[in-house]
Amino acid sequence: MFITFEGPDGSGKTTQIRLLAEWLREQGHEVVLTREPGGTEIGDQIRTVLHDPYNTAMDARTEILLYSASRAQHVAQLIRPSLAAGKIIISDRYADSTLAYQGYGRGLDLEVLRAVTSFATGGLTPALTVYLNITPEEGLQRRRLGGDEWNRLDAEALEFHQRVRAGYLELVKQGTERWAVIDAARSVEEVQAEIRTVVQARLGKETRFLSLRL
Ligand code: TYD
Repeated sequence: MFITFEGPDGSGKTTQIRLLAEWLREQGHEVVLTREPGGTEIGDQIRTVLHDPYNTAMDARTEILLYSASRAQHVAQLIRPSLAAGKIIISDRYADSTLAYQGYGRGLDLEVLRAVTSFATGGLTPALTVYLNITPEEGLQRRRLGGDEWNRLDAEALEFHQRVRAGYLELVKQGTERWAVIDAARSVEEVQAEIRTVVQARLGKETRFLSLRL
């Protein structure tokens, strides 16, 4: 099963993903953790270019093509093979980040972004996308306090992050039942408990579906 996590910077994705993976492994699942941009050696090289705070000259089109290039490699080299091997693969960000940041945040044409994304991924969509819902103000505040890596996009104005959040909420509204929106302004434990409930329900559905087909 392919699970993705989305949310504003500082929404706690990384911590929540780690806890979820531990719990799934305790239940005997094989779990692969990954992230975007990155997830492969080539993807990590692209990530370095994307996140370099000195790359202020980067054009918005260059940015989208680099995120998409990283994603194409990720899908081909890691995600599809992991799914074929029956593993649970959890990615910290995936294609919805492109629609939220480059589409709603930068104002690039959503249809063009969908086309580029579909080319990069061959149409691979997650079975479940967990959206950690938090205001950009709170997210940025948490990141500053947490002393995390500070990247090129963190330096964007607050209005940019507000557009990104509004974009995510729009994607959820238009989207299918693959989305689970979780209030991330609570304790780590409370958020994790809700994530586990959602994941458990999806896994149950998938198992029932597979046994019906046998
Ligand atoms: P990262 O350091 O992984 O931060 P986070 O913990 O917030 O995920 O940085 C990823 C950054 O890249 C984040 O600011 C969002 C941005 N991004 C895009 O703009 N478009 C994309 O398609 C992806 C995957 C990420």
